[in-house]
Amino acid sequence: MQEIVDRFAGPDRGAEIARTLLLPYLNHAATMLASGYATRDDIDAAMRFGCGYPIGPLALIDALGPDVVVSGLEKLHAETGDPLHQPAPVLGELSAAGESDDAAEPTMRHEIETVGVVGTGTMAAGIVEVFAKAGVDVVFVGRSQEKAEGVIATITKNIDKAIAKDKLDEAGKEAVLGRLTAATSREALADVDIVVEAIAEDMDVKLELFTDLDRIVKPGAILATTTSSLSIAELAGATSRPADVVGIHFFNPAPVMKLVEVVSAPTTDPEVAETAKALSSLVGKHPVSCTDRAGFIVNALLFPYLNDAVKLHEAGDDSLEEIDTAMKEAKLPMGPFELLDVVGNDVSLAIEQTLVGAFGHTGWEPAPTLVRLVEEGKLGRKTGEGFHTYR
Ligand code: 3HC
Repeated sequence: MQEIVDRFAGPDRGAEIARTLLLPYLNHAATMLASGYATRDDIDAAMRFGCGYPIGPLALIDALGPDVVVSGLEKLHAETGDPLHQPAPVLGELSAAGESDDAAEPTMRHEIETVGVVGTGTMAAGIVEVFAKAGVDVVFVGRSQEKAEGVIATITKNIDKAIAKDKLDEAGKEAVLGRLTAATSREALADVDIVVEAIAEDMDVKLELFTDLDRIVKPGAILATTTSSLSIAELAGATSRPADVVGIHFFNPAPVMKLVEVVSAPTTDPEVAETAKALSSLVGKHPVSCTDRAGFIVNALLFPYLNDAVKLHEAGDDSLEEIDTAMKEAKLPMGPFELLDVVGNDVSLAIEQTLVGAFGHTGWEPAPTLVRLVEEGKLGRKTGEGFHTYR
């Protein structure tokens, strides 16, 4: 941790870049805590386990010293005039603010033996892998046999890599693959105990799915969505059982990132949310709790920072590589442009637009370069080109 504190104080341009991008993020985390949206522990855990940060933002403010953060923000605010750079009043009394609630272990309030997953994209495949590796039977539904087989191929590839590293053996591989049931009809989900959907981030598409799941899946089963930006309450409203609908937001890559945000809508039964947390713990994830608001914890803190990085590049002389390197030197696992390319520029743009809609901060308007790359179809790794090129 001392390394980050020292780096933050550095005299060179890289340290200046890190300060410029991290100070607004710290300010926003303090504001989130002050608003009571999530506990201190959950905000810190979210950024550590969701983005691989070595330290959560509130612990980092403590380590840097709130006075250092306040004076850094004052300097930035004097330069930009952006209200988002005005130090949050809570920074002055942070050590007393937002103590964690009791950290009682969540209990399985519903019996979960079989999990259903809808979707065959990156997130869906990762989620299927997480459950199957943890010993849970998974029924997953794709729109075609080819797409369903693609999920099995991806998981097989990941398992083979693990075998090559001596982390699994052939018997383990057979066991994991044996827990998978691929289907092309949603009717296959009739008897599962919980469904996690990871299909397109499009409200109409998801509403149609939830209406169908309500018809198909047995009473008492939990219906979960891994949406990162849509309203859980609205999805719950498409069913006759809104109390059983909850958000279970995984992070990319799902088999690696330990975080799960369990998102409760006002209608969600607390026992359903508790079961979602217990299930997440059972499969080796670290669950945090939050309510149904755009961006939840991680995306609300991460995407304004990623957008600021694009704007910094647009504004000055710092190259993509220089900014990526500066942030890695500040001990983040990836540079902002590397991460944007992993997440997908289309996904990032949609999240940023949702955040502006929900919070109304003009300072968070998507950077023109991000918009342009999406228009040009340069979506990141998945298309071979985004901020960087992958061919
Ligand atoms: N699928 C499965 N396993 C993967 C993987 C993938 N896509 N990518 C990496 N791994 C595994 C590797 O096999 C390796 O496993 P091992 O330790 O058992 O051998 C392990 O992950 C570490 O991989 P590497 O050594 O190759 O790479 P790094 O050490 O550079 O770590 C990283 C890779 C874990 C992805 C790291 O760079 C990181 O933490 N990045 C941050 C990612 C992030 O911020 N994600 C959140 C994005 S926001 C989001 O998802 C929200 C959504 O709503 C948009």
